[in-house]
Amino acid sequence: MTDAPKHLVLSRHGTLAGREVGRLAYGCWRLPGTPQEELAGKIDAALEVNANIIDTAAVYGAGEAERMLGVLISERPALRDAIVIVTKGGITPPVPYDSTKRHLIASCEDSLRRLNCEQVEVFLIHRPDFLSAPAEAAEALTELVESGKVRSVGVSNYTLEQTRALQAFLDVPVAVTQPEFSAMHTVPLDDGTLDYAQSASILPMAWSPLAGGPLATGRVPDRADLRAAGLVAVLDRIADDNGSTRECVALAWLLAHPAGVVPIIGTQSPERIRVAAGAFDIKMSRRDWYEILEASRGAPMP
Ligand SMILES: NC(=O)c1ccc[n+]([C@@H]2O[C@H](COP(=O)([O-])OP(=O)(O)OC[C@H]3O[C@@H](n4cnc5c(N)ncnc54)[C@H](OP(=O)(O)O)[C@@H]3O)[C@@H](O)[C@H]2O)c1
Repeated sequence: MTDAPKHLVLSRHGTLAGREVGRLAYGCWRLPGTPQEELAGKIDAALEVNANIIDTAAVYGAGEAERMLGVLISERPALRDAIVIVTKGGITPPVPYDSTKRHLIASCEDSLRRLNCEQVEVFLIHRPDFLSAPAEAAEALTELVESGKVRSVGVSNYTLEQTRALQAFLDVPVAVTQPEFSAMHTVPLDDGTLDYAQSASILPMAWSPLAGGPLATGRVPDRADLRAAGLVAVLDRIADDNGSTRECVALAWLLAHPAGVVPIIGTQSPERIRVAAGAFDIKMSRRDWYEILEASRGAPMP
């Protein structure tokens, strides 16, 4: 019998929409309100660490995030081929959701205009719309692929059953699922999202991988939340063992899952984007990984 590897393997590459991609993505949700002239430094830092998937959405800043990215692409056309764009439609404040065929197609066309692109690699339905039949949403997505406006399609914040229902009517495969997933929010481990992703070759992208900040700052939302404090302590212990940072450990925890999860980092600091790449250097044992999960749940595994 050969010895089991001491550390979990963190692969650095994947594929999406026919493109080679890195295992970290850069997210544009927090861009609106930041200076346009600082965007190039953030995207360059992301590309430096091979975070070439750029995640955005029509609703981020009511189109502002896409507009900012579009300005950068028109200033630097070569950038278009260096990045893989994931955008989303279907959130319509204050309604709040609309996945009718008419709306999804119009939303995608508006996104392309703002992004100064003829095609995006991936278009996601941002959140499930309970009033739109999956057959109708699927018709919109199929048409977007057939018209060449998008290379591939996917979903965000969908349950496994919602994804399955959409797939049943789609002529193309669901390529991406984008749930909230972090060491603090571990639902996708248990609700079938990551299992189905593996069985159907869907790329899972984790939004708010640092829980929106607390897993980097260590400042847990509620000071009385001992469970979160315990989680931060475990992340810090593993970070110390590796001479690294707690956010790198939190990202490595996601990268270690066999579904090939792509964490979408959301910092506005180019330096922090570079630091995040240290996640790939974390040596995490199977026991470390489960210790993080146990701390997150506040209980040992059964
Ligand atoms: N599909 C969806 O429904 C959905 C929902 C939410 C988000 N998303 C996507 O996921 C992306 C990432 O979400 P997120 O921004 O919440 O991700 P995140 O990486 O979990 O959180 C980013 C926040 O953490 C802070 N932070 C990161 N490193 C830090 C450090 N070392 N010290 C102090 N603060 C630190 C950042 O502040 P600084 O900027 O100051 O570093 C920023 O405010 C979004 O941009 C978006 O693309 C998707």
